[in-house]
Amino acid sequence: MEEHHHIVPDRATRGHLAVTRDELIAWGERFGKSAHGKLVVAIAGELGAGKTTLAQAICRGAGVTTEVTSPTYALVHEYKGDRFPIYHLDLYRLEKPEDLTNLGWDDMLRSHALILVEWPERAGERLPHDAVPIDLELDPADEERRLLLAG
Ligand SMILES: Nc1ncnc2c1ncn2[C@@H]1O[C@H](COP(=O)(O)OP(=O)(O)OP(=O)(O)O)[C@@H](O)[C@H]1O
Ligand SMILES: [Mg+2]
Repeated sequence: MEEHHHIVPDRATRGHLAVTRDELIAWGERFGKSAHGKLVVAIAGELGAGKTTLAQAICRGAGVTTEVTSPTYALVHEYKGDRFPIYHLDLYRLEKPEDLTNLGWDDMLRSHALILVEWPERAGERLPHDAVPIDLELDPADEERRLLLAG
C-alpha cells in the first residue's frame, strides 16, 4: 500500500490565523476591551514573535492611556486600565519560579487585575491552570505575518 500523505495543512488541527502586525494589534485591542479582571493571559512565542506588541494592544483596549513598554528589566509593569489594574510581566529573565514571590505574584493573582505574561513557561507550576493560552509563531511563509493561536 502506498504511504499515506497528509492532505490537511500543517497546524490545521489547531486553529490559527496568519496575521499582520496591524491585524494582531486590532485583535489585541478588541481582546482588551472585552477582557475582565482576575484573568491571566499567557502569551508564549519565541524572541520577536510579537508578544509585547500584543500586550501593548491589549493594554490599550483595556483603557491604558500611558505608554506601555516592555518590562524586560523590571520584569513587571503595572498600569491603570479603565475597569481594572493590569500587570504586564516579561519572565524571560526569571531564573526560577520561586523568584515570582519577590515580584508580588501571589498578590497579583489574588487581586482583580488582568495579568499579561510573556515567557509564561518560566513560571512553571505557578502559572494558574486557567490561564488563557495565546501562542505567537513566526510564519515560515511570510516574514511580515505571525501565526496566532489562541484558546
Ligand atoms: N505580524 C506581526 N505581528 C507582530 N509583530 C510583527 C509582525 N510583523 C513584524 N513584526 C515585528 O516583530 C517585532 C515583534 O517584537 P515584540 O517586542 O512585540 O516581540 P516579543 O515577542 O515581545 O519579543 P521578546 O521575546 O524579545 O520580548 C516588532 O518589531 C514588530 O514590528
Ligand atoms: Mg517582549
